[in-house]
Amino acid sequence: MAALAPSVPLWTGSAPGKIILLGEHAVVYGRPAIAVPITRVRAVAHVVPLAAGKGTWIEARDLKRRYALREAPADDPLAHTVRTVWRALGVEQEPDAEIVVHSTIPMASGLGSGAAVATAIVRALAACFGRQLPPDEVSALVYETEKLLHGTPSGIDNTVVAHERPIWFRRGEPPQPFTPGGCFHFLIADTGVPSPTRATVTDVRAAWQADPARYEALFDRIAGLVEQARQALEHGDSHQVGALMDENQDVLRRLGVSSPEIERLVRAAKEAGALGAKLSGGGRGGNVIVLVEPDRHLVVRSALQTAGAVRCVETVLAPEEKP
Ligand code: MEV
Repeated sequence: MAALAPSVPLWTGSAPGKIILLGEHAVVYGRPAIAVPITRVRAVAHVVPLAAGKGTWIEARDLKRRYALREAPADDPLAHTVRTVWRALGVEQEPDAEIVVHSTIPMASGLGSGAAVATAIVRALAACFGRQLPPDEVSALVYETEKLLHGTPSGIDNTVVAHERPIWFRRGEPPQPFTPGGCFHFLIADTGVPSPTRATVTDVRAAWQADPARYEALFDRIAGLVEQARQALEHGDSHQVGALMDENQDVLRRLGVSSPEIERLVRAAKEAGALGAKLSGGGRGGNVIVLVEPDRHLVVRSALQTAGAVRCVETVLAPEEKP
């Protein structure tokens, strides 16, 4: 086992959560989508040296688990990330180190917690070997874990989380960061129903295989909405963005990835005056994103809570990056 230099006791990496503004699911089939990082929630990883001979250990604080890397199964996402990074960095001997992971991003809720945790680990491990990897390289490493978690990911989660910028994304093309032309105020409301992305992506795939013409048409419809939304975002037109989010939710409903809990929150938000509301991410649970005018924010938040939202986070998409 290789001992790490004890003079530097701690290396840290972190990464934000994300929301998909428009385009989820269709993005898996080559259509564009728009995603935004959410810096209010984050995953953090620390690397701490251990005594010589201990090998690499992982502590997943939120899961209350601590285990040796060499005992972790091949499909353990944290261990998979660590092994991928060791390979990419050319680390031949397992270092004596503990990797401690903690996240405030709720799991299986459409906010990209899997990609954020993996990104935090990649950054912390790279730092520990004196490397600062550019976002594209971080994203490519995290994509390996996304494949393990989601089966057939589009790559949008690892891309937006690694770049930490609003992006226009199409599978197989370089992501295009964009700057909105005004401020957009969002509420992110949690249905409280965990829903792993893998399950909904698998179901949509089965439905697409059974009736490709119908699903291709729905994906094209979403692509059209995403194109219009990009222009509306760049023009700062929140009313238009809200209307397009509503239309996107309608198509997601027809794709079969909404749920009674999502519909209840969407309805409550709209009745309280929201400009637009839709599920975000895989669906069937997780989070609903709601676009509000700033002066309606408290009324809509209260309506969401009354309708059963277990947690409501506010975020602003602004021309200048805001913390
Ligand atoms: C997950 O955040 C978004 C989906 O479109 C899956 C993917 O793009 O890999 C549902």
